[in-house]
Amino acid sequence: MSRKRLILKTAVLTLLAAAGIGAAAGYIVFRAGWYDIGASKQHLQAVYSLLEGGMRHSVKRHAKEVATPPLGSEAQVLRGALLYRELCVQCHGGPGAAPGAHGMSMQPVPGPLVDASGRWKPRELYWITRHGIKMSGMPAWEARLDEADTWAVVAFLLRLPGLDANAFRTMTAVQDAPRQTAGIPAAPAIAGDARRGKRILAQYACQSCHRVPGVTGSEVDVGRPLDGLANRRVIVGMLPNTQANLIRWIRNPQAIDPDAAMPNMGVSERDAQDISAYLLKR
Ligand code: HEC
Ligand code: HEC
Repeated sequence: MSRKRLILKTAVLTLLAAAGIGAAAGYIVFRAGWYDIGASKQHLQAVYSLLEGGMRHSVKRHAKEVATPPLGSEAQVLRGALLYRELCVQCHGGPGAAPGAHGMSMQPVPGPLVDASGRWKPRELYWITRHGIKMSGMPAWEARLDEADTWAVVAFLLRLPGLDANAFRTMTAVQDAPRQTAGIPAAPAIAGDARRGKRILAQYACQSCHRVPGVTGSEVDVGRPLDGLANRRVIVGMLPNTQANLIRWIRNPQAIDPDAAMPNMGVSERDAQDISAYLLKR
């Protein structure tokens, strides 16, 4: 064997061995559970940078195909401002508007978006808003915002860096006026705030025993999966499936069936109503 080939062969083998040892070491750290997943301790900077970098590359790649429409008409930005106030302020805050308690207690903390348009192209903002970010708490809005509204939010994010508290308040003031009803479909027969119900339900940990559509959890079946509830005639095998009955069950299963295995979790009337609104949504 020539000297050159020998060197080459040694180099390749060394690299392969190093890669193997690296993978094995990573696997051992992973399996041993050495890394502290607790939210009370910050990520190691290296891990944080790795996750953050991975997220950035993933978004950039996935957003490549998105075609950006014209952005920035006054009507579009105003629409975006309203949506932003309604959907995003609770976690990200806005000019002169603090995030809600729920947003502030999240880990990772959903930061302010005032500089987001400096770090992301419009199509990337669109993609993030539409698809969310796994394992971070950033929800996907695909089901709740149509394309035009998602672009409106993006148009607003582009305008955001120039806005002070007063400008933001003025832009979103119409929301405080009585809601216009023209063009809004008639209220559904089901009462309650389904969107809030979905959020609140996770806080009562319903998904620890049931698979709940739209809520991430393990595939447990302590209770039956709660999908398709709107199409069921009876619940718990005997109760006519009305919203009132569902609320009664959620609030106090034992009042309906003393032997019910589902615990009474002290769900308030309002929370039970919103949860039932979500579960009964078609
Ligand atoms: C339930 C809380 C929550 C809501 C509501 C929410 N977000 Fe997020 N958002 C997050 C979290 C958490 C992150 C990730 C923060 C991190 O990893 O640093 C995030 C990240 C983002 C990012 C990337 C930010 C960056 O600096 O790179 C954008 C853009 C974003 N959100 C837009 C929106 C928009 C637009 C809305 C409203 C339609 C919205 N978010 C509503 C929690 C939320
Ligand atoms: C500790 C486990 C547990 C938790 C937590 C739990 N459930 Fe249940 N759930 C059950 C079991 C078990 C049943 C089956 C009924 C029985 O006990 O006979 C049930 C039944 C139900 C039913 C009737 C389903 C059907 O197919 O007829 C509904 C609706 C329901 N649960 C909703 C909820 C909601 C909403 C929450 C959160 C507020 C929740 N459950 C939390 C265990 C649980």
